[in-house]
Amino acid sequence: MSAPIDLRSDTVSKPSGRMRHAMATAEVGDDWYGDDPTVNLLQDRVAELTGKDAAIYLPTGTLCSQIAVHAFVRSGHLAVCEATAHVGNTEAGSAAVLSGASFRYLTAPSRGLLTAAQVAAALAPDPYDVSVVDLVALENTHQVGGGSVQPVSAVAEIAAACSAAGVPLYLDGARIFNACVVTGVPVAGYARHVSALMFCLSKGLGAPIGSVLAGDSEFIREARRLKILFGAAWRQAGIMAAAGLIALAEGPGRLPEDHANARALAVGLAELLPGSVDPATVETNIVFADVSGTGRDAGQWRELLAGEGLLVTIVGGRVRMLTHVGVGADDVRAALEAWRRAAKLIG
Ligand SMILES: Cc1ncc(COP(=O)(O)O)c(C=O)c1O
Repeated sequence: MSAPIDLRSDTVSKPSGRMRHAMATAEVGDDWYGDDPTVNLLQDRVAELTGKDAAIYLPTGTLCSQIAVHAFVRSGHLAVCEATAHVGNTEAGSAAVLSGASFRYLTAPSRGLLTAAQVAAALAPDPYDVSVVDLVALENTHQVGGGSVQPVSAVAEIAAACSAAGVPLYLDGARIFNACVVTGVPVAGYARHVSALMFCLSKGLGAPIGSVLAGDSEFIREARRLKILFGAAWRQAGIMAAAGLIALAEGPGRLPEDHANARALAVGLAELLPGSVDPATVETNIVFADVSGTGRDAGQWRELLAGEGLLVTIVGGRVRMLTHVGVGADDVRAALEAWRRAAKLIG
């Protein structure tokens, strides 16, 4: 039997031959001392690309965000985020455990995209001085929102609301390059509105490991200390950074393919299970299928689809699928065949 088509996440892709070669031949040093040349090159490229003073290469997007929360939010204070944002929901309560921080959750009117009015209201001073907000965290693209894209004009308005309240704005840009492809705005165009941002090399860009956190010099200096505090000061990390450099150079240009594949998947699914997906809402590489009208729940669909050679995840009771570098147009057709066979089994 052939290998299953894996649409569980865009993190499941395997490094390319070029990446593996670069990893095998990377110049390395001890990153604890700051002397891994490949890590330093990657960090410099990211600083340049984002227009920020500096950047730091870290193992995961989660660690980037948790370092940002720790740097910005005092223990006992709050961060504002959207109700289903990764930083406030899917990071195992790290902000509470590592930083004593909790969240003020805002429910976005549509697809995870917060508005400036919502943020301004959430930052209004507490007359009793009981709850203090130290940070606003945005997510773009928004994962649970279906890979939805926050236009740069909306980010600018939110940034203005934050700056009026004297609160820094952080961008969880795990998939910011997907947003950049849709809006045509370079990553620096988003970065200029936020105090700090991270993006993942290990998602659509196709690297096996790694994320990058960027901000001003003082913030990154503190992030370096927090990297040690959280036990993540790795050593010859240039082996991974070498693949990250290729991901950064080659990954963004390939993302339109992922978006087209996701759209084709959504169109096919809308035909097969009417009402399960609105293809017009699929802007990037994430497709959610609402199977509630099929008489079977998402868990049952996941099992049936796995039996037909298609791997998916369940998020919020819906079936989630992501396209990535390991998925071509043929795989999308085969994935739709798997859905068709599973639908027949249900009858
Ligand atoms: C929006 C978003 N932010 C952050 C992360 C965390 O990244 P990592 O898995 O590298 O910790 C993810 C991972 O899926 C994500 O989807």
